[in-house]
Amino acid sequence: MACSRDALCVVPVAQHGVKPTINRELQRRTQGIAASCHSPACGRNPTTLTTAPESYLRHHTIMIHLSIPSLAGNEERYVLDCLRSGWISSVGSYVTRFESEFAAYVNAPAAVSTVNGTAALHLALLTTGVKANDDVFAPTLTFVASINAIRYVGAYPVFVDCCDETLGLSPEAIRAYIRDHCTIRGKSLVNRKTNRPITAMMPVHVFGHACRMDELMTIADDYNLTVIEDAAEAVGCLYRDTHAGTIGHAGCYSFNGNKLLTTGGGGMLVFRDVDCAETARHLSTQARTGDDTFGHDQIGYNYRMNNIQAAIGVAQLERVNDMIARKRAIHARYSDAFQDLDGLQLFTEQAWCRSNYWMGLVRLLRASSADFRRTMAAHDIQVRPIWQLNHTHPMYEDVPRGPTPAAEAIQQSTVCIPCHQAMSDQDVSEVITCCSRFVERNCCL
Ligand SMILES: Cc1ncc(COP(=O)(O)O)c(C=O)c1O
Repeated sequence: MACSRDALCVVPVAQHGVKPTINRELQRRTQGIAASCHSPACGRNPTTLTTAPESYLRHHTIMIHLSIPSLAGNEERYVLDCLRSGWISSVGSYVTRFESEFAAYVNAPAAVSTVNGTAALHLALLTTGVKANDDVFAPTLTFVASINAIRYVGAYPVFVDCCDETLGLSPEAIRAYIRDHCTIRGKSLVNRKTNRPITAMMPVHVFGHACRMDELMTIADDYNLTVIEDAAEAVGCLYRDTHAGTIGHAGCYSFNGNKLLTTGGGGMLVFRDVDCAETARHLSTQARTGDDTFGHDQIGYNYRMNNIQAAIGVAQLERVNDMIARKRAIHARYSDAFQDLDGLQLFTEQAWCRSNYWMGLVRLLRASSADFRRTMAAHDIQVRPIWQLNHTHPMYEDVPRGPTPAAEAIQQSTVCIPCHQAMSDQDVSEVITCCSRFVERNCCL
């Protein structure tokens, strides 16, 4: 049997701030050694890596991925139930069960399932009345889907900065934009840069960390703004004692394959107002007026989740707290290991937030994040940069925005590292070792 982590590779290590270069020749030679390794546990303890010689050889053919779904519960049983019963479309009972159990989990009055998180955002904007030629405060630091959804309804984003400590929409940045660029006309807040009313804001709880919702809700109350929370990455994240996604007028979740709770692809939408949930459900099923009359009273969408996805969702929800606990335990190990590491900052929840730690996030203080990513990749540890800021995408480069220095600095220096529930303790040790060694060699003062 081949060693499970047997592609021995050598980290290109630089001394004191000198950029590392990948020693491909050495890698080629060591790959030959790897091929002859047949031990599933070859005895090298990766935690000793930081003190090992330059030519230390590690064991890696299996990538440590950024996210792997955990499907170890009732997922298979419930999906088989769908297949055997023939209920595979969106009228199956798992769909309504998943909606009601999810609503109970996040403590929302009602939940509406969707085919994905982007569809949930689209329906949230439609249902809460955000319309064409409205402006919407949105963070430049988020996945592009948040911003695209605003454009789907014909509204426009107004990009503002994020907070250093939450990575989410900054209340100070919004207030500064209002002070510098807005006027009150009648009951409307008008953006002087566009001459359009600003009617909504979209806080995004990026990477499973909650935004500063009290302050954002105060701004929303002051200026009569609708609040659509993008909690796509934040299932199970608590802002104080409340689930992220349930504080504003509407909240949206994603169950994409890389999310903590996954249905392969899927989404959920929750509302404060039960009537909004009914409207969203109606729109999600082509705005049908009756079961068999083929009447439709609006332009609707085919956005409802199907029974197979929902069956997986019900099973995932049964274990969601265990999955979060595992991710938090992995983060705690990172936190212990990195606390004295000068040059690398682990992003950690605020005292008032319970993060789900969807991804591990590290900020490189004195080294290039691209070098860090290359080194981790050379060790078969999958990492990724933060998204390009939305105002840099060609379709959004003319969008009005306030200054975004925090988002720019974070985007440059921050890298996502694996923190998923399927990681073994050994995997966590290997990530710690690689990060530590990189920092020791590249971030010295
Ligand atoms: C912040 C954010 N918003 C929206 C989405 C869109 O969700 P989906 O991929 O399920 O459409 C995602 C992720 O995938 C996301 O990370």
